[in-house]
Amino acid sequence: MTNHITVNASKTYTVSVERGILARAGERIAAILPPPRRLLLVSDDTVDSLWGNTLLLSLESVGFTVCRFTFLHGESSKNTDTLCRLWNAAAQAGLSRSDAIVALGGGVTGDLAGFAAATYLRGIACVQIPTTLLAMVDSSVGGKTAVDLPSGKNLCGAFFQPSLVLCDTEVLHTLPAEYFTDGCAEVIKYGYIGDPLLLDLLKKPFADSPEQIIARCVAQKRDLVEADEQDTGVRQLLNLGHTGGHAVERLSDFSVSHGRAVAIGMLLAARAATARGICTPDVAPHMQDMLMRYGLPTDCLFSATELAEAALADKKRRGDEITLALPTSLGKSELVKLPTDGLADFFAAGGARR
Ligand code: GLY
Repeated sequence: MTNHITVNASKTYTVSVERGILARAGERIAAILPPPRRLLLVSDDTVDSLWGNTLLLSLESVGFTVCRFTFLHGESSKNTDTLCRLWNAAAQAGLSRSDAIVALGGGVTGDLAGFAAATYLRGIACVQIPTTLLAMVDSSVGGKTAVDLPSGKNLCGAFFQPSLVLCDTEVLHTLPAEYFTDGCAEVIKYGYIGDPLLLDLLKKPFADSPEQIIARCVAQKRDLVEADEQDTGVRQLLNLGHTGGHAVERLSDFSVSHGRAVAIGMLLAARAATARGICTPDVAPHMQDMLMRYGLPTDCLFSATELAEAALADKKRRGDEITLALPTSLGKSELVKLPTDGLADFFAAGGARR
């Protein structure tokens, strides 16, 4: 499989997965957005201190004029205040409609910078250079951009596809182990959504083939985004484990991280689907073994009723039905509708206490 994946959505763009590509980003960006142009390089303080200068050198070496916007790392910065400062930084840097924003960082940076690019001058080009495993396989691809509001996460955003995505596996070496493990949950998720070969690859050490693993995840996300860019249908398969996962995150007051919560949510979903006769019995034990292999949790500390209440409290959810992504056999999942008043029973079938 190639490590250059072309996404044909409302914009056509390439996702390249290559070791060392960050230091060559200038030439890759120049190939689609030829200099001279202005670029606004957006990153948080942590990523900026690790990789900002490497990227800056590469961008300037091919003739770009680069300004930098750096914000305090963490989800609490993904808000309208940082967004407003980012818009102003773009204006002060003199960015025109032919210039671009370059997002260097994890999901917070990508979502924030992507939304700024979607809205500044009614939309300028955005290049995503994800530095976490989670951002490489999920948030940097597919065009979901957003900021959080005080009343909830990602409540204000836009679908806005990037112009280029560059994933450098070298940067994963500076990623703290807890973040790497978190990203592994989303990688594993792709295997159970629709890639049995990925499940085989994941039985070997990740370090044996990081580019291949990441590229397989991106290729699957590409297929789902191309089929359903606006997330009204099959793209929702990417939510495997997320209904229970979001509930676990919320009930733990976000002390259980996203990837770990998704791991717990996936196993609940697999066990419940098996109990309901939707899924073959080999999947849940296979998934439990896989999650444990990557140091991810498999036990749910919350009751079925607590999980259902927390899952249904999501402000973006409406109506009497909920759509769940559920595994049906090894390496295959489907969307299944469930009445919301059956959700607690569903979690109980998945092994959560009553
Ligand atoms: N993160 C899920 C999606 O992009 O649809």
